[in-house]
Amino acid sequence: MAKILGNFHIALLIGIVLLVAAMVGLHGSLIGSGNAYWVGWVRFLHIFAGILWIGLLYYFNFVQIPTMPKVPAELKPAVSKYIAPAALFWFRWAAVATVVIGLILAEMSQPGYIGNALTLKAGFKTIGIGLWLGIIMAANVWFVIWPNQKRALGIVPSDDVKKAASASLAMMASRTNLILSIPMLYCMVGQAHIG
Ligand code: HEM
Repeated sequence: MAKILGNFHIALLIGIVLLVAAMVGLHGSLIGSGNAYWVGWVRFLHIFAGILWIGLLYYFNFVQIPTMPKVPAELKPAVSKYIAPAALFWFRWAAVATVVIGLILAEMSQPGYIGNALTLKAGFKTIGIGLWLGIIMAANVWFVIWPNQKRALGIVPSDDVKKAASASLAMMASRTNLILSIPMLYCMVGQAHIG
C-alpha cells in the first residue's frame, strides 16, 4: 500500500481511472447525444487546471510568503532553490492551461461566447467579468510574477538591490491575484448557477 500511495504518478493515475469510471458510469448515456457530454469533460479539465493554479496561489499567500520570515537563514535556500521553483513551474503552466481550456469551454458551449463575454453582452456579464479577471491574473503571472521571481530566486543573475525590489514586486502582484481570485471565482461559478 505504501508503495502505491508513495508514488505520486500511480496515485494520480488511480484518480484518473476513477474519474473515467464516474464520467462514463454516471453520464455515459449522454455520449452520442450532442456535445453536452464532451463539454462536461472540458469543464472538468478547466476546473482541475484552475484548482492547481489557484491552489498554488493560495499556497504562496497562505503559507510560503507569511512563513518565510520565520525560516532560519541557513534553511531558506531549501525553499528558494527547491520548493518555490517547483511550485512556480506548476503555477505558471496551470495558469496557461486554465485560460486555454476555459476559452475552449466557452466556444464549445456556444459559438460567439468569448466575444459576448468579453464585451459584457446581456446574459454574459457575470462570466465576462470572470474572464477579464482571469485574463488579468494570468497576465500578472507571466509578465510580473514570473520574471520578478526569476530574479528574486536567483534563477537569472541579478544584484542584491534588484533582487529585493523584484521579490517585493512579485509579492505585491501575488497579493493582487489573491484579491482578484475571490470575485473571479464568484463570477465563474455564478454564471451557471445565478446568471
Ligand atoms: C481567463 C481565464 C478563464 C476563462 C477563459 C474561463 C472560462 C470559463 C467558462 C467559459 C466557464 C463556463 C461558464 C458557464 O457558461 O457556465 C467557466 C466556468 C468555471 N470556471 Fe473558469 N475561466 C477562467 C478562469 C478560471 C479560474 C482561474 C478558475 C479557478 C478555479 C476557474 C474556475 C471555474 C469554475 C469553478 C467554473 C464553474 C463551472 C460550473 O459551475 O459549471 N475559471 N470558466
